[in-house]
Amino acid sequence: MIFVAANHLARQMPLSCQKGVLLIVAQFDKVADIYDATRGFARGVDGEICQWILQRLTADPAITEIGVGTGRVALPFIAGGVRYTGIDVAEGMVDVLQAKLGGDLRRSQLYVGDVHEGLPVADASQDAVVAVAVMHLLDPARALAQVRRVLKPHGALIWGEDRLDPASPRARIRSHYIGALPPASPQITGEAHRRILGEWGATATRHTVATWQFDESPATALESLRQREQSFTWVLDDAAHAEAVRRTEARARQLWPDLERPVTQQNAFVVDWYQC
Ligand SMILES: C[S@@+](CC[C@H](N)C(=O)[O-])C[C@H]1O[C@@H](n2cnc3c(N)ncnc32)[C@H](O)[C@@H]1O
Repeated sequence: MIFVAANHLARQMPLSCQKGVLLIVAQFDKVADIYDATRGFARGVDGEICQWILQRLTADPAITEIGVGTGRVALPFIAGGVRYTGIDVAEGMVDVLQAKLGGDLRRSQLYVGDVHEGLPVADASQDAVVAVAVMHLLDPARALAQVRRVLKPHGALIWGEDRLDPASPRARIRSHYIGALPPASPQITGEAHRRILGEWGATATRHTVATWQFDESPATALESLRQREQSFTWVLDDAAHAEAVRRTEARARQLWPDLERPVTQQNAFVVDWYQC
């Protein structure tokens, strides 16, 4: 296994990257600079999430985040001096996080590496592993074996996801496009991960940690689809993608005659807390 500390000058990717992971690296590197603009939380939501998590852990916890990305969740932990280890396979995403931190990692460490190959922390050393909007990209057995290895006895897997209001234009536009995709696998739906967590005997509780509103026009959501800014759009080839966008746009024109008009929409951050 090869890990490269992200603040090390001579960075390289893990040699054992598989094809799927290489595709993920290429795609996330491509969207790294616009990631926060397209998926960011409303102001203050990251701090709310950080406080909510810290209140549920023992004092001075050690936390690892898999798929740390641009630090949408990690930033207040790191800036607040928490012992936080972040790992991500896409160097471009980690670069954005480092730039936000101005290079000051406080008590944290960032790594460029593939979670499947191993996590750069010792066995039974972590109070919690944070995984946000990443499980669907990971092989359940390999990734969760690493999570289990590094968690202390009774440590927590904190599995976070954004939950758009299904009635919002962004959600309806996405679900129309997703209708053109092959049926989702248990890996994508999270079913396979949940089965493994059930086998561990982990107890799960679901919490809506934060809610917020944002204004966005249907045209903006369509353009985001067209530009393939979300990982679910990376499945189709160019022709199928263009056709799915065309159909989605036709449907959107029926639903919102003025596509340019911003609509106020609801988003939420939901955590499944697995006590292991
Ligand atoms: C949708 S983004 C989520 C980023 C961050 N957790 C957030 O919520 O903003 C998924 C992230 O997982 C990373 N990722 C995907 N597969 C990975 C793997 N096998 N090992 C490490 N990181 C991975 C991607 O590079 C990307 O930065």
